[in-house]
Amino acid sequence: MNNRLGFFDSGVGGFSVLKSVLDIYPGMSCVYLADTARVPYGTRESEEIRQIANEVIEWLKCQELTGVVVACNTTNSLAMDIIENSTNIPTFGLIESAAEIIIEKKIGVLATASTVASKSYTKEILKLWPETFVLEQPCPAFVPLIEREQVDFEHVEKVAAEYLKPLIKANVDAIVLGCSHYPLLSNSLQKLLPSNVRLIDPSIALANKLRNFLNPLDSTNQIQEPFANTRFYSTSDPRGFALRADYWLGIRPEVELVSLHRNACVF
Ligand code: DGL
Repeated sequence: MNNRLGFFDSGVGGFSVLKSVLDIYPGMSCVYLADTARVPYGTRESEEIRQIANEVIEWLKCQELTGVVVACNTTNSLAMDIIENSTNIPTFGLIESAAEIIIEKKIGVLATASTVASKSYTKEILKLWPETFVLEQPCPAFVPLIEREQVDFEHVEKVAAEYLKPLIKANVDAIVLGCSHYPLLSNSLQKLLPSNVRLIDPSIALANKLRNFLNPLDSTNQIQEPFANTRFYSTSDPRGFALRADYWLGIRPEVELVSLHRNACVF
């Protein structure tokens, strides 16, 4: 059977993950769900993130998937157990994938307030690399900027300079982009950092990990039009989301509106 992967995020952040996976498997059949009605996730309470995760996985379970990619670190840090325990389909998270490829000794993590509060990155990195120094920094202004497409250097610099200060002061050697939205700011962030600091995009680690799971011989390897086999869904304003896909991915897809509150398998 060919693979079909489900991705979900609060908004456009998961595009960074979708792109990394399709870079390796261009013909992969994918379902992308953006919970735009509730973006941002990163300032919500843990209980709410867990309830949302429950709704999302119930919906994804109806999509005939062979794998679920949790393209949202906030869900990954607060509700991965809900996702994993709700389904027998293999699930893939960003935090564990990123921790596995760390080689530096001093690590900074940029993430949402909820992810930072959970300390998931610190725990996961120290589990594998107990000698590592980890400093986490919440960046609450990033997601709204990205969702509004205000990502020119001037806009980013205004807020990023403050966020990066403690990490630069601590002389970190690498910074994990611990929210899937943040790789969309990589170019600006790299300009604000000393040149020796490596930016780590967890989606690249996750995409490489998928090689162990996906059959390299199935049709997902064949080159096709980018995103030709991806179906897009949003929980609000599908037209607006199609325009955002155009901005970030260079395609104008059909986006279907879904309600996650309804019985998920009734269409
Ligand atoms: N992109 C998600 C993450 O990786 C959620 C960001 C948000 O909605 O605040 O955490």
